[in-house]
Amino acid sequence: MLKARGSQFYLNDEPFQILSGGLHYFRVVPEYWRDRLQKLKALGLNTVETYIPWNFHEPKKGQFHFEGMADVERFIAEAQALGLYVILRPSPYICAEWEMGGLPSWLLKEDDMALRCSHPAFLKHVEDYFDELLPRLKPYLLQNGGPVIAFQIENEYGAYGNDQNYLTFHKEQYEKLGIETFFFTSDGPDFIKQGSMDNVVTTLNFGSRPEEAFAALEEMKPNSPKMVAEFWIGWFDHWSGEHHTRDPKEASEVFQKLMDMGASVNFYMFHGGTNFGFYNGANHYEKYAPTITSYDYDSLLTEWGDVTKKYLAMADVLKSETNVTKVETESYGEVTLTESASLFDVLREVGHNVQHITPLSMEKLDQNFGYTLYRTTVNDTGTFELDTTPIRDRAFIYVNGKHEGTVSVNDDRKSVSLHFPNETNTLEILVENLGRVNYGKHLSDQKGIVSNLWLNDQYWFNWEMVSIEGDVLPTTFSAGERYPKYLKGTFQANACCDTFVDLEGFTKGNVYINGFNLGRYWQTMGPQQRLYVPGPLLHEGENELVVLELEEHTASSVTLTNEPKLG
Ligand code: GLA
Repeated sequence: MLKARGSQFYLNDEPFQILSGGLHYFRVVPEYWRDRLQKLKALGLNTVETYIPWNFHEPKKGQFHFEGMADVERFIAEAQALGLYVILRPSPYICAEWEMGGLPSWLLKEDDMALRCSHPAFLKHVEDYFDELLPRLKPYLLQNGGPVIAFQIENEYGAYGNDQNYLTFHKEQYEKLGIETFFFTSDGPDFIKQGSMDNVVTTLNFGSRPEEAFAALEEMKPNSPKMVAEFWIGWFDHWSGEHHTRDPKEASEVFQKLMDMGASVNFYMFHGGTNFGFYNGANHYEKYAPTITSYDYDSLLTEWGDVTKKYLAMADVLKSETNVTKVETESYGEVTLTESASLFDVLREVGHNVQHITPLSMEKLDQNFGYTLYRTTVNDTGTFELDTTPIRDRAFIYVNGKHEGTVSVNDDRKSVSLHFPNETNTLEILVENLGRVNYGKHLSDQKGIVSNLWLNDQYWFNWEMVSIEGDVLPTTFSAGERYPKYLKGTFQANACCDTFVDLEGFTKGNVYINGFNLGRYWQTMGPQQRLYVPGPLLHEGENELVVLELEEHTASSVTLTNEPKLG
């Protein structure tokens, strides 16, 4: 077992320094887990750390998913096969720039839900999930012959709430299900007081100034072992912002200091990977800011798994001999998009209809991700003001099928003027969920239209809604002209190498390769201009590429190129 005695960690009674790297199996295709883990080991690290995102494993209440990219057991076994130890962070909440910080959005279907506290309904859902998850993990604990040496309790709880009973609940759950292992909490140095527990080791999250951080720990819990549970060596990006980078030399100097102090370290991230599909999270301080598809993080490996200068700089500190080959990427060239379908012509195929007297939020519609179309009839002629406050996050508004405006949760003006020319008009609002907030006070982040709409000084009743989760593609392509449009093309691949989809000439949407949702693109918002396609998603021979373009496009093809474009 891993233990802390005084300021020292021991593993099986031998002094032990944890040298770990963060690698999220849910952000990397399983075919590449081994490669990334090998590179982690080659750097001289002895441990891999991962979160476990609840919403990935229980997408609908009671429906569990542990296959493919969700096969956490296989990931742990692969780490063990390479002789690595494993640290697990199976908190119901993980932050991690992941949709709703890993909490399933179906929790928000209940009106009085309170997240990350001892609210009985919340705890019951966590308990049901842990009853499924923890027995799967138990055989992988060190004393059961596995590689797992530690479990985190919650995640940076000090920066969220003050419910100590809720923290204790985790420990009780772990113990109830036989998880006898080393427990720790982790928080930024300013939050350790609120986030720590008695008799549980406190670890720290930071990117620089280790002396100050450990001084704060020493003051609160003298003679604690020094562990940076998240050593931030890069950072994530938002759609409206720049691509973040951190100088390798400067980062490695801080790492050197940590080594000189004899600290244990977990690189956050060793390898970032990708927010495939709709799994990106968002921040919300002044404004709502969704995270981009790439989770490159300027970490030690690139998004596609190549060794970086930063990796080599850390290898110098660790005096590791690295002998790593470059990842082969491929330009498959232009893919002409020969077929198209308007989303409005295929709603039956890709969506699910519900009628209700008022508009319902996505969560009330049992919809996790994607788009919801809201439709009602306006029996009045004139120009009316629509209050857009309840719309999350971004919507296209149509009157009688004509696009009349685009609104966003960040607009200063919270209304839009709409002209209704006829006695009977159809009002349609197509709302996109851009990713639920993963940190801070806006965590309960409902999407869609979250309360009834006020138009021309009245509430409007009787709505038809179509939930479009974005997990089904149309089979009929009848060339409708109205956006959003699905655009389809095929291309040949001889070898299944990594590639990048360049979306020049497109505006905003998603790309699917052989039915797999690669994630969002948003050319006008940057910084990411190309989407990463891992080779294992391709087939030798013919491959299908579908673009769901929401707004407009001028190009008739996309290009598969061998280089990324991230800022
Ligand atoms: C915190 C969280 C992580 C991640 C980082 C920033 O430390 O614990 O999950 O969100 O911030 O990347």
